[in-house]
Amino acid sequence: MERTLSIIKPDAVKKGVIGKIVDRFESNGLRIAALKKIQLSRLDAEAFYAVHKSRPFFGELVAFMISAPVVVMVLEGANAVAKNRDLMGATNPKEAAKGTIRADFADSIDANAVHGSDSAENAAKEIAQFFGAFEIL
Ligand code: CMP
Repeated sequence: MERTLSIIKPDAVKKGVIGKIVDRFESNGLRIAALKKIQLSRLDAEAFYAVHKSRPFFGELVAFMISAPVVVMVLEGANAVAKNRDLMGATNPKEAAKGTIRADFADSIDANAVHGSDSAENAAKEIAQFFGAFEIL
């Protein structure tokens, strides 16, 4: 059993597809162990994406992530990290396989509908940024 962090990004929240995205996870063996809709502050977004600080897209990424509320979730299941990444599809929706969340709901590499942790180690760190132990059920 593994846990991973999923974020439904501002573009998907504004499109009104929160339920459709959550259904992808639940229909594919990932349990929602925690879920909340929040507005990220600039500091929250900068801290979350600190690993990308030196990348040219960092400023735009932070501005986008604070442009509207997001939904943060803890997904739980066998191989949750890899399974979530399979369901999301490639970072760039133009390269995402048919039937993946990004192929179906994302518009661009910046507005790409969802974020998912890239390793179990990073998942633990990312989950701790948004949820206390007692909020994960
Ligand atoms: P995410 O998985 O949330 O991790 C970092 C985000 O930066 C990524 O999704 C994209 O939305 C965004 N991004 C913008 N440009 C790039 C790029 N050239 N390479 C990777 N990520 C990018």
